[in-house]
Amino acid sequence: MQRRTLLICFCQAIAATIMAVVIVPIGRFISAPLFRKDKQSSRAVRVAKLSQLEVGKPVQVPIIGNRKDGWTLYPQAVIGKVWLIRRSAESDNPESVQVDAYSAVCPHLGCKIDYSDNGSHFICPCHEAAFDAQGEKMKLDKAGYNNPSPRGMDQLNCQVVASEAGGELWVEVEYERFKFGLQDKVVI
Ligand code: FES
Repeated sequence: MQRRTLLICFCQAIAATIMAVVIVPIGRFISAPLFRKDKQSSRAVRVAKLSQLEVGKPVQVPIIGNRKDGWTLYPQAVIGKVWLIRRSAESDNPESVQVDAYSAVCPHLGCKIDYSDNGSHFICPCHEAAFDAQGEKMKLDKAGYNNPSPRGMDQLNCQVVASEAGGELWVEVEYERFKFGLQDKVVI
């Protein structure tokens, strides 16, 4: 082998080593947020004590979790808001008390859904999408106008659980986000 060929091979070996040691880890670091799934978004979160909820009265609660913004992690930040409605009173088995949870994100274009001043239905302040107390989209006959929302409010999995210490009953919600502007619920 000629000395010149040997020198070229040597340089290529050094370049490959630099690539492996420096460039590849940097590339993986930079692209990591693109491939990382936010596990916090679908984990059950305790959001309220059952005793805080009155039957039939919607209560809005924040979802606290780790929020990622690009490469920055914000621990214990508000990552969403949810409407809770307790449907039934205390029974022999308190954990069977029904509580429904709905995302406060409007399925139309993503504004935050409020509860109407007269306490009869949910309404989005941006373009007046209206939903009844069951989270269903109100049609023309009930809303009195063309409701812009493509679907009802997004219902979330929700359950009542006893605390490990016993006695206290908590409402847990599996928070998820969905694409807006679609007739179907599609998880983001
Ligand atoms: S974003 Fe809610 S009505 Fe448009």
